[in-house]
Amino acid sequence: MTRHHHYDALIIGSGAAGLSMALHLSKNARVAVLSKRELKSGSTWLAQGGIAAVMDTTDSTDAHIEDTMSAGGNLSRPDAVEFTVSHGKESIDWLIQQGVPFTQDSEDYHLTKEGGHSHRRIIHSADATGKALQDTLIERAKASENIDLFEDHIAVDLITRRKLGLAHNRCVGAYILNGKTGRVEVFQAPHVVLATGGASKAYLYTSNSDGATGDGIAMAWRAGCRVGNMEFNQFHPTCLYHPQAKSFLITEAVRGEGGKLLLPDGKEFMHSFDERGELAPRDIVARAIDHEMKRLGADCLFLDISHKPADFVRNHFPTIYQRCLTLGIDITKEPIPVVPAAHYTCGGVLTDQKGRTDIPGLYAIGETSFTGLHGANRLASNSLLECLVYAKSASDDVFDSLTKPLDESIIPAWDETQVTDSDEDVIISHNWDEIRRFMWDYVGIVRTNKRLQRAKHRIDLLHNEISEYYSNYKISNDLLELRNLAVVADLIISSAMLRHESRGLHYTLDYPELGPEALDTILTPINYSWH
Ligand code: FAD
Ligand code: SIN
Repeated sequence: MTRHHHYDALIIGSGAAGLSMALHLSKNARVAVLSKRELKSGSTWLAQGGIAAVMDTTDSTDAHIEDTMSAGGNLSRPDAVEFTVSHGKESIDWLIQQGVPFTQDSEDYHLTKEGGHSHRRIIHSADATGKALQDTLIERAKASENIDLFEDHIAVDLITRRKLGLAHNRCVGAYILNGKTGRVEVFQAPHVVLATGGASKAYLYTSNSDGATGDGIAMAWRAGCRVGNMEFNQFHPTCLYHPQAKSFLITEAVRGEGGKLLLPDGKEFMHSFDERGELAPRDIVARAIDHEMKRLGADCLFLDISHKPADFVRNHFPTIYQRCLTLGIDITKEPIPVVPAAHYTCGGVLTDQKGRTDIPGLYAIGETSFTGLHGANRLASNSLLECLVYAKSASDDVFDSLTKPLDESIIPAWDETQVTDSDEDVIISHNWDEIRRFMWDYVGIVRTNKRLQRAKHRIDLLHNEISEYYSNYKISNDLLELRNLAVVADLIISSAMLRHESRGLHYTLDYPELGPEALDTILTPINYSWH
């Protein structure tokens, strides 16, 4: 017997985007928030640097807009940039009301600086902003009678009226694998929100946690939504390079507070790539590091903040200081070994300013979405801001369109009669590794036509193999993630093949110049036959 749950809104994802939207909606709607692992398993928890917002009288909305447009290779949509930036202060005030403990200095909130920003405008909680934010929002959500939180619940696919053979397409819920029981349940709601984070796990080396497999993007694509600008995957320039450190970021705020990038022989090099040096936008810094590592055959380069007073370093970067110290690196005395790693998905599911996708009743917010804010390269710390701003505008839209749920008898139970338990889990782990490795080697920081063609050939073969496996065996968390990862890898490769220029994060040796026009890459599912 399939279990049915009913809510006014189903929010898939418990990061900054999902929790903020749930809290806004909880004023007069019943909301379910799902996380495929524990509530803190996404990128939000890992965020270090902070949130970009105009908070200082010497700063201005125009300057933040200009910095965002410039970092984005002039591909950002001006209306999305203006909308997001102009709601910055209001979003931070809301977080302060919720109780987020931002770092203060003697007079006011301390603002730090990051690459591409012309002013100090990053409000933060030391170097663990995401943790402070998510802890606070989880506490508030747990205290709300209108919010039910579900851990270990992984969304499999969206349920739409079109899939049910009904007229007037609309998203009406989702099939959800309950990780505790192993059973698929139906969560029904007239408003469904994809807040599932990004897809950087498509790459071998990433700053993201294991769940960043682009599930929301893949589910939306399978349900019939367009996706945009998937070729722009951002590489963070400085992840810790150490055999025991998996995916540990060294925040850009270290460079904002004076950290220098060094070659293995101790020489500085960033000014020969960009006059802004260490504080050039991220795409430029990551490419410079990649270039120098390849030129020198080096395994890593170095980031040095040890010239600053030890107390300053320990106070501003307590998490990084402690983490590095446990690995035998004292950052107050020596440089930190760093490498670039996949960090952020700039593209995603196409939405308007209210987070609405192509399917009525379906919203996408946060890193899953493509709002047009980031263009060809996201400006540092604009991501959490986008989560907050669109969570609010999408919740306002839900209030304007509260509608009746569908009769539950119309939704068929999950059918497992045709599948058996898998006896070959090695196929899943092998295909995971293969995708992530060729994405790193062929679709990484520097691309070529040949590398992209190779990657496309590999992903087409893997798609067939994974689809066949999916049709024959019972679903598991790993299989669902692999299936989604294959979809997003394909979307990234296909989008990269369509862009015949180098812009922002997409750099190809075959088209090293900027094209004449700044155009988005929009993919429509009808051109493709994947399921
Ligand atoms: P996430 O926080 O990633 O949450 C995704 C949620 O979706 C999780 O709860 C997950 O369990 C759930 N989920 C996913 N798939 C499914 C599924 N199939 N079923 C059910 N649930 C699912 N940005 C900034 O602006 N400032 C920073 O300082 C900053 N620092 C960063 C540092 C690191 C190390 C990283 C990785 C990112 C950083 N970013 C930063 C980027 C920013 O943290 C993320 O873009 C943002 O937190 C994304 O929030 P989100 O709510 O969209 O998704
Ligand atoms: C960082 O702290 O360097 C990450 C900031 C971001 O990704 O926006």
